Amino acid sequence: MPGIDKNSGPFRLSVNRDERTGLTEQIRSAITQAIGEGRLKPGARMPSCRDLAAQLGVARGTVRTAYDMLADSQLLEAKGAAGTFITRYPPVAIASNAPSPALTPLSDIASDFDASPLTFQMGVPATDAFPASVWSRILQRHARNSTTQPVGYPDPRGSLALREELVAYLAVSRGISCQAAQIIITNGYAGALGLICLAMGFRNTQAWIEEPGYLLACKALGLVGIEPVPIAVDEQGIRVNEGRDRAPAASFALVTAGQQSPLGMALSPERRSELLTWAQENNRWIIEDDYLGELQLSSRATPALASRDSAGRVIHIGTFSKTLSPTLRLGFVVVPLALAARFGDIATVMAPASSVVVHNAVAEFLREGHFLRHLRRMKRLYAERLEKMIAALQPHFPQLRRGGLAVVVQLPTGIADRTIAREALAWGMAPSPLSAWFQRDELRQYGLVLGATNMPADGFERCAQQLRQLVDAHLPVVTPAGSD
Ligand SMILES: Cc1ncc(COP(=O)(O)O)c(C=O)c1O
Repeated sequence: MPGIDKNSGPFRLSVNRDERTGLTEQIRSAITQAIGEGRLKPGARMPSCRDLAAQLGVARGTVRTAYDMLADSQLLEAKGAAGTFITRYPPVAIASNAPSPALTPLSDIASDFDASPLTFQMGVPATDAFPASVWSRILQRHARNSTTQPVGYPDPRGSLALREELVAYLAVSRGISCQAAQIIITNGYAGALGLICLAMGFRNTQAWIEEPGYLLACKALGLVGIEPVPIAVDEQGIRVNEGRDRAPAASFALVTAGQQSPLGMALSPERRSELLTWAQENNRWIIEDDYLGELQLSSRATPALASRDSAGRVIHIGTFSKTLSPTLRLGFVVVPLALAARFGDIATVMAPASSVVVHNAVAEFLREGHFLRHLRRMKRLYAERLEKMIAALQPHFPQLRRGGLAVVVQLPTGIADRTIAREALAWGMAPSPLSAWFQRDELRQYGLVLGATNMPADGFERCAQQLRQLVDAHLPVVTPAGSD
């Protein structure tokens, strides 16, 4: 490691030619460290580039580049013929002698960012099926093109090319008839939900959310001052009558109509009608979380709820997180035409869409037919994996039900599904505890939701067996009658 020699005066620096880090960077970081540790004092004069280069046995230009970088980060100040000096007021973070604090952890609503998906983990696409070569070719081309474009602000609603492609895709795949003006590109579902909350002024109102349902959405609403009122789902999806009873004044309902999250059923035609009628008759809104889009394993995906919205009450959210990759952080919102201008204004001033390079690359990916081809492949792959997973689980968990790209295995009431989920992590598995998806204790069910999208190289059998052992270890010990 290069650095300051602590035993040999206030400023003695060395470099190591065997290090992979370049000489310039070694010099830059050693001086930064010395300033941070107070070994180089504010206002002190630095050796000239020539002297330091001679001392270190490096080219003068190497030292000059390091000095220039340090000047750019306001640690050094060049004063012409007078020489180069440590700045009098180094940036606070550098000046402090205190060890830098660990990154502030997020609260427990999310964990393990940037980690590879584990077996049974829900909500992540298959890592081994991403169309990497075609995607990287397209992305590279658009990154290159962007460097020759004028440097100006792009449309805050997202690239028109992508919005136009989405118009065609949504018509074919989700039955939605809309114009590009109604589409705003967002940072995934979460970005879309934030934009909607800003634009619709829902603060201090109530909202129906599904129970069980997607926890992060519930958390999001709470954070922006909306009271989420959990409404039970049954085999037809959200129970609209319960919503009418429990929260008649709710300003909107947030539903996963295509595939209920996490149980997987589609909202039935009757419930769709009931929900749309409620919204229409009472001037309420429906936010449709279409997180899986067309990625439904049944032969023909259920159309989006927005496709039946003749009164302009449905705000539809789509995301590429499941269909392509969550690394893109790319989603979109389709709003009724009457709201398009307001959403455009809010996007412009508070929530502009992300990099247009990615938008244009995704637009080409759609236009050239790669996206629909990829979806077809994924559907086949996931259907196969789901069957394999079920075959592996069935001997150990006979009581299981299918739910979209996952299965739910029921556990006896009170079995600590959260504990099992935590313990499973050590075995490379990430089942989701079903109980965590419920808000009300009286409705809470215990079980594990197991995603099928990522399969271990040796199949699901070993994991299924291991999971059963973890569950068995938590079963109450039954004492035979008569024994003490
Ligand atoms: C039901 C549901 N909605 C939305 C999302 C999040 O989508 P995004 O990654 O675009 O924020 C998820 C992700 O797991 C989900 O399960």
